[in-house]
Amino acid sequence: MSRLPFAEAAERVKSGLDIIDIIQRHVILKKSGRNYMGKCPFHNDKSPSMNVSREKGIFKCFSCGVGGDSLTFLMKIENKTYGEVIRDLAQDQGIEIAYEGQGAEAASIQRDARQKILDLNYAAAKWFEERLQEPTAQPVMHYLSSRYTDETQCQAAIQQFQLGYAPAGWENLTPYLKGHFDFVQANPDLLTTAGLANNREHGQGHYDRFRNRLIIPILDERGQVVAFGGRALSDEDKPKYLNSPETTVYKKSQVLYGFHQAREAIRQSKAAVLMEGYFDVISAHLGGITEAVGSCGTAMTDSHLKLLTRFGAETVYLAFDSDEAGLKAALSAISLIEPYMGASELQLKVLIVPDGKDPDEFIRHHGGDAFRELIANARHFLAFKFDMALKDLPVHTPEGRIQAANRITPLLAAIHRPATRSEYIKLYSERIEISEEALLLEVKRYEQSRNPAPPRAWTGSQNSGKKKAISKHGSTSLRRNEPILTDNMSELRSQLTPRQVAAEKNLLKLTLFNSESFHAMMSVLDAQTWLSFDDPAHQEILEGLRGLSQDPEAQQNASSSQAFLGTLIEKMNHLYFDKPDVIHTFAELALTAESFCDSLGLGEIKGTPLKDKLSNLAEQQLTLLANARRHRQLQQLKANASQNAGEQVELLYEFKDRLFADARPSPGQAQGQT
Ligand code: UTP
Ligand code: MN
Repeated sequence: MSRLPFAEAAERVKSGLDIIDIIQRHVILKKSGRNYMGKCPFHNDKSPSMNVSREKGIFKCFSCGVGGDSLTFLMKIENKTYGEVIRDLAQDQGIEIAYEGQGAEAASIQRDARQKILDLNYAAAKWFEERLQEPTAQPVMHYLSSRYTDETQCQAAIQQFQLGYAPAGWENLTPYLKGHFDFVQANPDLLTTAGLANNREHGQGHYDRFRNRLIIPILDERGQVVAFGGRALSDEDKPKYLNSPETTVYKKSQVLYGFHQAREAIRQSKAAVLMEGYFDVISAHLGGITEAVGSCGTAMTDSHLKLLTRFGAETVYLAFDSDEAGLKAALSAISLIEPYMGASELQLKVLIVPDGKDPDEFIRHHGGDAFRELIANARHFLAFKFDMALKDLPVHTPEGRIQAANRITPLLAAIHRPATRSEYIKLYSERIEISEEALLLEVKRYEQSRNPAPPRAWTGSQNSGKKKAISKHGSTSLRRNEPILTDNMSELRSQLTPRQVAAEKNLLKLTLFNSESFHAMMSVLDAQTWLSFDDPAHQEILEGLRGLSQDPEAQQNASSSQAFLGTLIEKMNHLYFDKPDVIHTFAELALTAESFCDSLGLGEIKGTPLKDKLSNLAEQQLTLLANARRHRQLQQLKANASQNAGEQVELLYEFKDRLFADARPSPGQAQGQT
């Protein structure tokens, strides 16, 4: 590899670029005269308005106006700085950029914090790799050869995945990086920002974050080192894996372990296998499953899938262990991803590794070909989900069949494609021995309750017949501020107004924004002794969150909101394993919380201002809720009055009282308007 100062490297890189080649990776281009035309990726382009000229090396969209050269295009489409683009391209073209301390630090480029962290990570990765070759690396080599008894396999793992060693001791990497980079010398805290060192609690200085661990560098899709996983060498060392924190270059939800190595195989096979652990991926690749990637110990997200589809995956296999934790993880991954599957062409399949093994162990014991068979037998994610919901249900009893129908109704309702839905209705009506028509009706009713039409008249007829909506509390009681328990969520939901549902959702979204908002909102909500949600799923979630707000692990993770949300999602999935409807609702709320709160401007503030704003917003929503509830009570009064003429006079008085109560603005409302 040639090694050039930045400015020279940039020149070299630019001279080797073909703009058609670059744009074609993202846009379909058609030749048109001397130039090429394609749909502009920077706006919602209906017909091709982007013009690209190979000779001139430029592109221009005649509709939205954006234009420039290859570098402008890459900066824009990959959301990167000039320096980052050059660096990535240099790497692709095998040009190494020399970042040698003083002077050579190319003055031509203003390097931002992002770039500095990338440089530090790159240097650290090299340094860790070198340490692995030294005699002092004996403990880690011993560990590795216990995992890979075959010496060739062991060496292959080290080389293909650039494994390294962080030596024992407090100050090894830290002084090295200080001596090597001027900007670290000037600002050593950058080491902490990059997640490579910790600040000493007492006194000044920094010490290595990774000590006596096997180092697994995490690369992004272009092969840049963005983070590290550090495996403990013995079971006594906790945690088992110590990872880099999230930084400006590392967002867990957007990076897949092994993606760089898997990229080509994914493109060729149009498939990817998503696994949980670092070593699952490493062993998979050694066993020839080169389209395997890992989710780095975090929940799988739709961004992970987007990354995979962007690089050509048409089928994604989710690989999970067959133990209870594995099955739960599978369901929880599906519930997070499913809301995004509606419009997608992606095939999502679930692959369960038998015998309670993880893919790493399975492949080491049975080989890659056996794993290929598991891939071939993977279940479509819907089938998997349905099977899990129906597991252990005695469908040969009437109760069992009804329960089965209750469980799969929300699952059916979540299927957006009519063809798929009818296919599953057919399949599972047979399975649970309930007629297709009845099941279809259940689904329709469930859907109506989720998207209630304008409030229907509260005539008695709606609740007549065998099913009483409000079974446990008696249907005539009007003193009902406590939650109404029912056996059938959909019945109850159909009685809620859209505004009420929205207010409940908004309160939960404010709570789920980040760890700070969670604690602030929980104390606001706890102060409302009257508060319960009328949507049963919302109420379950509220109760779940109340429990979790006391949970030490949730507290502990309060520092990083990603980790915090991850913990919450995991715990909620655990709590509501058998209530897919609740999990589904929760996933939806958790995923939309951020954009909702950002749109309210909560993203920019912290501490007391955040608390104040939250309690303001909460109060507005609570007022809405209280009003909606009164409105409902009034309607019930009205309906009941018409049924029982004898009560009419008495009720009229109550009616009147309530009307007056409604007319008086509450303090919350007054505040909400300022
Ligand atoms: P597992 O606990 O299943 O470990 O975690 P594993 O992958 O089988 O690891 P080995 O085989 O015992 O070495 C799965 C993944 O979750 C993340 C890691 O990415 C791990 O590979 N994890 C696990 C952490 O980030 N931290 C931990 O403490 C544990
Ligand atoms: Mn393992």
